[in-house]
Amino acid sequence: MTKALFYDPARTFEDNYANGPFNMDQKDYRDETVEPKFHFLGFPIQSPFGIAAGSLPTSRHTNAAFKLGYDVVVYKTQRSGEFPSNAFPNVLPIDVKGDITLERLKKPFVVRSNFPKNLRELSITNSFGVPSYGPSVWQDDLTHAIAGVGAGQLLIMSVVGTIREGMTPSEYYEDFALAAREAKESGAQVIEVNLSCPNVASEGVICYSIDAVYEICKLTKEAIGDTPLVIKVGYYAPEQQDLLERIVEKVSPYIGAISSINTLAGEIVKEDGTQALPGKGRLRSGICGAGITWAGLDMVRRLDTLRREKGYTYEIIGVGGVMSPIEFHEYRKAGANLVQSVTGAMWNQYLAQDVKASL
Ligand SMILES: Cc1cc2nc3c(=O)[nH]c(=O)nc-3n(C[C@H](O)[C@H](O)[C@H](O)COP(=O)(O)O)c2cc1C
Repeated sequence: MTKALFYDPARTFEDNYANGPFNMDQKDYRDETVEPKFHFLGFPIQSPFGIAAGSLPTSRHTNAAFKLGYDVVVYKTQRSGEFPSNAFPNVLPIDVKGDITLERLKKPFVVRSNFPKNLRELSITNSFGVPSYGPSVWQDDLTHAIAGVGAGQLLIMSVVGTIREGMTPSEYYEDFALAAREAKESGAQVIEVNLSCPNVASEGVICYSIDAVYEICKLTKEAIGDTPLVIKVGYYAPEQQDLLERIVEKVSPYIGAISSINTLAGEIVKEDGTQALPGKGRLRSGICGAGITWAGLDMVRRLDTLRREKGYTYEIIGVGGVMSPIEFHEYRKAGANLVQSVTGAMWNQYLAQDVKASL
């Protein structure tokens, strides 16, 4: 049997966009709806599990995910204008066992020739640079994605700002709000701002800048009004705890949820030590999958502690290395209101059904 794939790493981004998802079988679709027992941001949901931003770049992909039982899915991050994808390949397996600790991240990672079968050994790098065909394409497609949301399911739209030549920082922050406004115009029920992409050379990872995060949240919330806002952040090292707390304090009036984590960044090389991904600025690239579970769990525990200590009301989306129901339950115990996977669900399309069977 040919394996079903939301996103095929052997094909270009453009091919996945135009032709995916692949080999989906209608007989695997689950149309029965159970009475939603859970809530996220006030929406009733059938299960607190879904797919984070990345593997679902069109409404065909999000619709397939909903039908396979992923109840809260994120449409891949879009921009207020067109932006090309980084060159192929965009997804490569890396040769690493166990946790990818902060110490291990100081050394390069060598790519493997194949993807391991055992998902507990599957860590990958992904490097797209957040491609977008622009709002004239994605706004219309988003309406189809929203039409595919079933009872007790929820679609989150992810957006990011774009730096263009000559822009001031404020204009860049405004661009997040513009993309969010465009998403709201197309009916997005929840909007997530991606503050943590490590694969965009010119823009950098802005979740570590208090001013940037504050301005983006304020402007975006003004633009989207009562639509809930989610921020997607990266990993904050223990010595950045104070920074994390100051950021959360400043933005808590604007946000409904924090999604954590994005990928961890590391150097990716071939066996001969040369850069593995083609093109400028791609030696360092985002790493996700089994090796980063520890980091996502650590962030969720810290955000949960902070929430209890300070009385914040934000909800927590636990992301990073959810490869099976085991990690799903670990995240829930750590304090996640909602859990999402990208890598795990790319290699096991039926992960939502496995998770539901374990509830
Ligand atoms: C193929 C792929 C594409 C991704 N694209 C995005 C994106 O567009 N926006 C975003 O916020 N995160 C993106 N991510 C990061 C994921 O949302 C997630 O934070 C990260 O992969 C950790 O989860 P995982 O270990 O389950 O993959 C992407 C990840 C993968 C694997």
